Amino acid sequence: MRFAVTVGRKGSGDLLEAAKSWAEHFGVPYLERASKGSLEELLRQHNLEAILVATADGPQIYNKEGTFFYHLGMAVLRLQRLKNNEHDHFASALELKEGMRVLDGTLGLAGDAAIASYLVGEEGRVVGTEASLLLHFVVEKGLRAYEAEDCDLTKALRRITTVQATAEQYLESCEADSFDVVYFDPMFRYPVQGSSAMEPLRPVAYEKPLNQRTLALALKAAPKIVIKERSEKILREYGCTEILGRRYSRIKFGIIRR
Ligand SMILES: C[S@@+](CC[C@H](N)C(=O)[O-])C[C@H]1O[C@@H](n2cnc3c(N)ncnc32)[C@H](O)[C@@H]1O
Repeated sequence: MRFAVTVGRKGSGDLLEAAKSWAEHFGVPYLERASKGSLEELLRQHNLEAILVATADGPQIYNKEGTFFYHLGMAVLRLQRLKNNEHDHFASALELKEGMRVLDGTLGLAGDAAIASYLVGEEGRVVGTEASLLLHFVVEKGLRAYEAEDCDLTKALRRITTVQATAEQYLESCEADSFDVVYFDPMFRYPVQGSSAMEPLRPVAYEKPLNQRTLALALKAAPKIVIKERSEKILREYGCTEILGRRYSRIKFGIIRR
């Protein structure tokens, strides 16, 4: 991925230092911000795919689709619903309970991981792997710093451990039975405009489909795998033997058990 780092227009002092240190950390150029000129121009002039921008609200990713910064997305509403004893398809597919150890192999914006972390509580453990360098960077900083209105949610965010790696790379280092469940929500193979919070991030996300080796490693690390997909056909191809989700529902969860 061709990217560089810069600072928000009003950035000075600490932000400038942060941007320079991030550029050094990633081994990519730090771009001076002229008093005029947009991020779009910088992207074009330097032939980049993305720019990481240090702002007072945390790191942001700018690409041709727009700007991305860490946010809670649907997690706030989902948590409220759980607290009202309403149903959450993800939680029931994973059968999440206090004390469980969960690996989220496709962390993304960590919305699902936040719900898992809340449900498994302090005695449980949620690890999330994210293959995209930039997404991992922004989301990891968000999980450490974001203050949600609901302090249970803030605590759940802080308990998530993130790893910048592909799920396969991380699973190779896992002992057998180190988790109770491994979850995958890979990028949909056939994107539909506006269908997911992840779509604008597609250019910076990791798009390869899951492979059989990753699934075999996951099944060694945990007795159960849950995969989120649109198509039952794809889930069956992965080897899922149970499919949750109504016939016409947009999202389905496929389950593979050891
Ligand atoms: C659809 S999003 C996941 C959204 C997430 N469930 C949430 O609630 O925010 C998929 C994310 O997983 C990452 N990803 C896809 N395949 C991966 C893999 N094999 N290993 C690690 N990360 C992966 C992508 O870069 C992307 O950020």
